[in-house]
Amino acid sequence: MCGIVGYIGQDNAKELLLKGLEKLEYRGYDSAGIAVVNESGTSVSKAKGRISELRKVAEADDQDGTLGIGHTRWATHGVPNYENSHPHQSASKRFTLVHNGVIENYEELKNEYLSDITFISETDTEVIVQLVEHFSNEGLSTEDAFTKVISLLEGSYALGLIDNEDEDKIFVAKNKSPLLIGVGDDFNVIASDAIAMLQVTNQYKEIHDHEIVIVKRDDVVIKTLEGEVQERESYTAQIDAADAEKGVYDHYMLKEIHEQPAVMRRIIQEYQDENGNLKMDSSIIKDVAEADRIYVIAAGTSYHAGLVGKEFIEKWAGVPTEVHVASEFVYNMPLLSEKPLFIFISQSGETADSRAVLVETNKLGHKSLTITNVAGSTLSREADHTLLLHAGPEIAVASTKAYTAQIAVLSILSQIVAKEHKREADVDLLRELAKVTTAIEAIVDDAEVMEQIATDFLETTRNAFFIGRTIDYNVSLEGSLKLKEISYIQAEGFAGGELKHGTIALIEDGTPVIALATQENVNLSIRGNVKEVVARGANPCIISMNGLNKDGDTYVIPQVHELLTPLVSVVTLQLISYYAALHRDLDVDKPRNLAKSVTVE
Ligand code: M6R
Repeated sequence: MCGIVGYIGQDNAKELLLKGLEKLEYRGYDSAGIAVVNESGTSVSKAKGRISELRKVAEADDQDGTLGIGHTRWATHGVPNYENSHPHQSASKRFTLVHNGVIENYEELKNEYLSDITFISETDTEVIVQLVEHFSNEGLSTEDAFTKVISLLEGSYALGLIDNEDEDKIFVAKNKSPLLIGVGDDFNVIASDAIAMLQVTNQYKEIHDHEIVIVKRDDVVIKTLEGEVQERESYTAQIDAADAEKGVYDHYMLKEIHEQPAVMRRIIQEYQDENGNLKMDSSIIKDVAEADRIYVIAAGTSYHAGLVGKEFIEKWAGVPTEVHVASEFVYNMPLLSEKPLFIFISQSGETADSRAVLVETNKLGHKSLTITNVAGSTLSREADHTLLLHAGPEIAVASTKAYTAQIAVLSILSQIVAKEHKREADVDLLRELAKVTTAIEAIVDDAEVMEQIATDFLETTRNAFFIGRTIDYNVSLEGSLKLKEISYIQAEGFAGGELKHGTIALIEDGTPVIALATQENVNLSIRGNVKEVVARGANPCIISMNGLNKDGDTYVIPQVHELLTPLVSVVTLQLISYYAALHRDLDVDKPRNLAKSVTVE
């Protein structure tokens, strides 16, 4: 979603801001802009579309200056166009602002304070910058006007404000939306994500909700709304700048699919002690083991990983588990058990829907664990415990390596809790995960086979179905999400047995049906479902597992532990989706309308 960068230092801000915005492109956006301050005022450049468009506009504009802010916008209030793009300016153009989030009471604020102002955009953001000017005109200093405005805002925001009468400060605040301060020698930066400013620093400070931060060239002052100064140490962002590059791959998605064996190895290493046993912080084990029911909360791909995780937690650890879509749970909480534990699964750790649930469960005093790829992310900071995915930055909007990492970490957690509950282990998990790693490697090596499958089944189709039973059904949901989000093919995942209760009506001559057959107890029944769709003209693509395969199957994955098959079968679906999108000449890494990190509810 929207991304923010800002720079105050000795160098020309424009190029640093543009480079920073390029690093945030992965979050998803539809317009972008920068503002740079110098002695002649604040110069703003904006463009609809990609950063490359903004670059063209910015290069033509006179924007020398050592203080600036930049923004990528994912439209919420108003269509993506020049007027609605950030940065936004106050009526006199003295104040310039970038904003990530949604202000819920902007109409009320507009009516109460700004009835005489002519607004240029349809955004909620413009209200904020006009309000700063309104209070400044009433005689408040910029800092006091900004603080006053923050005290009035309801909703989510990360804000960077500049004042062309003060070339020495960026005013910053946040609530619910992510924003970090990057610290350097004689310069400081702001960024929605450390990746954006790794080009100049790997030292960052967190900001808490409702704090006011004054970022200067040589100082960062953090205050409460009441003006009390807060001391905050910086930390080193654990991201290698090279991890955030595409390297030899054409797309981040392909790179991230290929990284999965390495991620599996890293997880095995991180969660293993020197004696080769599974390890985890004892306080996490205690809280999970003491829960009488586990509630998994997540969105999208992370939700799909949660569905697989439920199988491990119930079958291995013996703890009843429910998996919920975060955006539903927050408005419709089920009856909770007496001693629940909440597991939040989120690659980014910033998903607003999941955070909304965590805020509620924290209020209720329930224990929580976040499983995330981003140390220090909001969900990680606000939950009682964190388990890291160790997957390295995931840049492509379509999540791949995070899904398999989430499942691997959930399998480890479940086995550890099983041991705590003295349940007999029927699986040597580390050995099985090593087998999974080799199996993923074999599939990645077969990428050209997946490309051929994409050609044979998906080249011209407008829709496709994914079917499976039990755990394969969970994977078919993820397969269909992968295909639809990047290829725009209408794709749905179904439980094989549900087809004849309605969906089979959609099957026509040539409809591709991708069926997963990796589970022994349902092998015959899923194949029966395939026969049913074939009888109605479907073009079946059967992905089975060695040992359960039959003549004519389209692809056979190596044999792994039955509950761990999602880690392997999903890789075939990721690659098939990748090639289907590639063959349609689509922007695989940045699909339309989508954002990597969904930071608004
Ligand atoms: O960062 P999160 O894991 O919380 O994100 C949740 C979903 O937005 C995300 O998984 C989304 O569905 C993926 N981009 C799909 O590939």
